[in-house]
Amino acid sequence: MLIENFIANYARKKNENYLQFKPSETIIIPRNKGNVPTLLYIHVPFCEELCPYCSFNRVRFQEDLARAYFDALRKEIVMYKDLGYDFKALYAGGGTPTILIDELEKTVLLIREMFNITEISVETNPNHLTQDNINKLREMGVNRLSVGVQTFDDGLLKTIERYHKYGSGEDIKERLSYTQGNFQTLNVDMIFNFPTQSMEILEKDLSTIIELMVDQVTYYPLMVSSFTKDIMNKKLGTVDYDRGNEFYRKITEMLSPQYKASTAWCFSRKDKIFKSGATQATISSEVFSSHSEREGEAQPALQTKGATQARISSEVFSSHSEREGEARSALQTKGATQARISSEVFSSHSEREGEAQSALQTKGATQARISSEVFSSHSEREGEAQSALQTEGATQAPVIDEYVVNYEEYAGLGSGSIGYLGGSAYANTFDIKEYIDKINRGSLPIAAIKNFSMKERLCYDLLMKLFGLSLDTQQLTQKHGVNAYRYLWSEILFFRLTGGIEKKDSMLMLTKKGQYYWVLMMREFFIGVNNFRDFCRAQNKT
Ligand SMILES: C[S@@+](CC[C@H](N)C(=O)[O-])C[C@H]1O[C@@H](n2cnc3c(N)ncnc32)[C@H](O)[C@@H]1O
Ligand code: SF4
Repeated sequence: MLIENFIANYARKKNENYLQFKPSETIIIPRNKGNVPTLLYIHVPFCEELCPYCSFNRVRFQEDLARAYFDALRKEIVMYKDLGYDFKALYAGGGTPTILIDELEKTVLLIREMFNITEISVETNPNHLTQDNINKLREMGVNRLSVGVQTFDDGLLKTIERYHKYGSGEDIKERLSYTQGNFQTLNVDMIFNFPTQSMEILEKDLSTIIELMVDQVTYYPLMVSSFTKDIMNKKLGTVDYDRGNEFYRKITEMLSPQYKASTAWCFSRKDKIFKSGATQATISSEVFSSHSEREGEAQPALQTKGATQARISSEVFSSHSEREGEARSALQTKGATQARISSEVFSSHSEREGEAQSALQTKGATQARISSEVFSSHSEREGEAQSALQTEGATQAPVIDEYVVNYEEYAGLGSGSIGYLGGSAYANTFDIKEYIDKINRGSLPIAAIKNFSMKERLCYDLLMKLFGLSLDTQQLTQKHGVNAYRYLWSEILFFRLTGGIEKKDSMLMLTKKGQYYWVLMMREFFIGVNNFRDFCRAQNKT
């Protein structure tokens, strides 16, 4: 417990020094060289109702606004195409991406036409699991569907205000049951450590998951941001983080016969995990009509001015654009408000701060969304097989991992998205109307950026790769062209001494204990990001 508290506190504090976004007169986002598999994340920030514990970027659904938003989103997608980007996978997160299925359909088709997409993931809620939607999602080529469940317990569903929206535990179970088998991977999102959640409730939920045999379950620890703290205390009670480990142990213990951890908090069905050389995935090329030569190796960039206007300047992006330094020094910040994102590596907090902050500073930056999915990209290692877009034979195909770990780069499109490209993290404006206006004026809606130093890049990779359970230090050294140990020795030493990491040749691997440490690290990371969102939301003009 002492070590766990230490890790959580250390992560929180350390991160305050790391991720700090700044608004800028000029924002440059280097494009990758075409050899890094890149994920396209699109954010759909609308929900029919808002859950009290959630601090993702979401607003109450209004049809007119949502249609105008989707329209703008498609324009932003075209802007990235014009910049020369190509994407290997698509993740539609929210909010609720399926809120207007026809708009989602149009958007996915456009993306498939423009990029070499080999995998599509979409988030949804149980009330959207209708036969019609399932058919449409399949036709779109969706091969990983992630459904927000949180719990099957009616009492708890009522407490977290989802019962009246998404149905009882039995209703949700039934919907999942007929959805299972329609997609290559059906994931359910669950949460542990709600204040009124007992061990008995957790055990019952786990039994239900095992009974349903869904392909994958992501068990998030409850995260409380500065914005949700008061409402959570009032509606749900005070969170006791000390209970987390006991819950987590129960989750791993009960799931372990049928499921295997693919990240610290995501568990995939063992019988559907792809084993090298034994792919069963069906590739259905007709499903996709993606045309997609990789476009020029020249590195175009996104350059924004005054945090309100984006300009593209491919010259700026010449070959050196991948490395920070020179080009990034051109990033000037303006504005007196500052958001710091901090967590293990980043963690954010959001008080207004003095001028002296060297990192990310936002001026009227609105809200950002970093989702675990965005951070967890799944990659090359199981690449080929998982790249198969299923429509048929869904149950035969291997499970698709959560993503964060494997997609090292991702572009974040939509209001409040955060992207990570070429060593820079950037956030789109969180203000939905401002987002639409900017796009309609032909500008990229980027509001803030953070250029990572080499140490920060390595820390980020350490966090994300070990979240995916292992890290190859040799690969890391090759990727960055520096000795990874020189930068990470203190972190590696600490986790080896505490028994969180084991080393085998160049590989670092999380131990069982380490898996929970990483749950804490990622929890702090997301809390930090949520705080950044909260800060940005407070800046919204609309
Ligand atoms: C942001 S939601 C978007 C998809 C969909 N609207 C839903 O509710 O599932 C994705 C998942 O994030 C998780 N989540 C949201 N707020 C959280 C919080 N405060 N702590 C932990 N997990 C959270 C939930 O498990 C949720 O299903
Ligand atoms: S948990 Fe999902 S449905 Fe609830 S407010 Fe957040 S994004 Fe919307």
